[in-house]
Amino acid sequence: MNILVLGSGGREHALVWKLRESQLTDNIFCAPGNAGIAQIAECFPVDLKNPAAMLQLAEDLKADLTVAGPEAPLVAGVVDEFERAGRRIVGPTKAAAQLEGSKIFAKEFMKRHGIPTARFAAAEDYASGAKAIDDFGLPVVIKADGLAAGKGVVVARTRKEALEALDDFMVRKSLGGAGERVVVEECLAGEELSFIILAGKRGWLPLVPTQDHKAVFDGDLGPNTGGMGAYSDDSILPERLRQDIIRRVIEPTLAGMAADGAPYYGFLYCGLMLTAEGPKVLEYNVRLGDPETQPIMMRLRSDLFEILTASLDGQLAVHGARWSPNPSVCVVLASKGYPGKSETGKVITGIEAAESLGGVKVFHAGTSFRDRQLLTAGGRVMGVTAIAEDLASTIEQVYAAVAKIQFDGMHYRRDIGAKGLRRLKITLDNHHPDNQAGNPPPA
Ligand code: AMP
Ligand code: GLY
Repeated sequence: MNILVLGSGGREHALVWKLRESQLTDNIFCAPGNAGIAQIAECFPVDLKNPAAMLQLAEDLKADLTVAGPEAPLVAGVVDEFERAGRRIVGPTKAAAQLEGSKIFAKEFMKRHGIPTARFAAAEDYASGAKAIDDFGLPVVIKADGLAAGKGVVVARTRKEALEALDDFMVRKSLGGAGERVVVEECLAGEELSFIILAGKRGWLPLVPTQDHKAVFDGDLGPNTGGMGAYSDDSILPERLRQDIIRRVIEPTLAGMAADGAPYYGFLYCGLMLTAEGPKVLEYNVRLGDPETQPIMMRLRSDLFEILTASLDGQLAVHGARWSPNPSVCVVLASKGYPGKSETGKVITGIEAAESLGGVKVFHAGTSFRDRQLLTAGGRVMGVTAIAEDLASTIEQVYAAVAKIQFDGMHYRRDIGAKGLRRLKITLDNHHPDNQAGNPPPA
C-alpha cells in the first residue's frame, strides 16, 4: 500500500513515523514535508491550497490512501476532489470543514444544536464589534472568523486591548479576508482539554486525551501560539467527565452535522474549556492537533494504517485502538521572536544525543537541510517527545532530552505537563487516609 501524508509540521512527522511501523504499508510519501520527515519518507512539493494539484500528486504516486494533516487542504475541498476521482482520503468534506473554516459557522452550529459553548455575537463591521465588546464586559475574547494559523484569537483583559484587536482584524486587515468578520465572545475560565476523535463512515474512535499549552510563556502568560507543548495522560480525563463530553459534545456534534446534510468524517478536534458549569467547546478543528498528535502517536500501540482504513470502511466500531497506559509529553522548541516574526537559518545540534535517551523521539516542524547542516526554518522548530512510566519521570526525561538540543535563540516552556502533576497530587492528597470521608482535604 502507498500512503501520502499532506503537511509539513511536527504532526505530520509523527503520522509518517507511526505509519512506517505498519506491516501493511509499502511506500510512505509526504508533501511538502520537512527535513525530519525527509529522513524517513520521500517528500514532494505541493500547494496545500490546491485540491487539483494534491489529487494529481496522489495519482502520480499511486497513493492508495491519503491523510491530510493541516486544515488548509480540507477547507479548500481536497476531500471532495479526491472523492470525485474515487481516490481514498481521510478527512471531512469542504462543507463539514466549515466547523474550523468559519468560527461564525461553528458558533451558529453549536447554538442550533444545543452544544455548550461561550455566549457570543458575530460582527460584520467595527461598530457592531465594538458594541458587542461593551455588551460582554471584560475580559472578552475576539476571534477572526476565518483561518489564521493560531493568530486569530485575542483574549483581551482591557477595553483598549479588545478594541485594538478588533481594529487589527477588521480595519488594518492584519489577517486578510480571515478577519473581515469576527466573533466576540464571553471569556470562559477553567482548564483546557483537547478531545480528539476519528469519525468513521460508521462509528467513531476517541483518541487519548491531551492538554495543549497555547500561551508562549510559562504559567500560561504571553500571547497565544499554535501550541508550545502538549502531554497525554489518562488522569486528564476521569470517566465521568469523559461520558459527559461524549453525551454533551461529541454525539450532538456528529448528529448535528449529519442532520444539517454535512456528515462529518475524519479527525475532529474539540478544544474544550472545563468550566464550573461543565465542558464547553472553545473551538473545533477539523484535523489532529499540533503538537497534540506527537504525544498521541507515542502512546498508540495499534497499527495506524489499519485504523485509518477501518474509518473509511465503516469498521471503526469493531476495530478500536490499543494505547500504552504510560503518559507522554511533547515540548516545542521555538525560534527567537515566535509567535511574532521569528529568526530562521540557525544551526541545530544535539538531536541524536536527545534521541539516544530512552523513550525519546524528536519530531521536526520548521527545519531544513542545507550544506549538510540542519537549520531552523520556522517559528516552531521541533517537538521533543518522551514516553515513560509515570508523568513525573516522563517530564524529567523530556527535559533531559531538550537539554541536549541547541540553536541560537531557542526558547521553550519549562512547565509542560505541570498542570497534570498538580492534578495527580490533589488526587493523591484526597485519597490519603487522613483525608478520607468527612475530612475535607486542607485548603
Ligand atoms: P481557539 O482557536 O478558538 O481555540 O482559541 C485559542 C485559544 O484561545 C484557546 O485555546 C483558549 O486558550 C483561548 N480562548 C478561546 N476562546 C476562549 C474563551 N471563550 N474564553 C477563554 N479563552 C478562550
Ligand atoms: N494545538 C492546537 C491546534 O492544533 O490547533
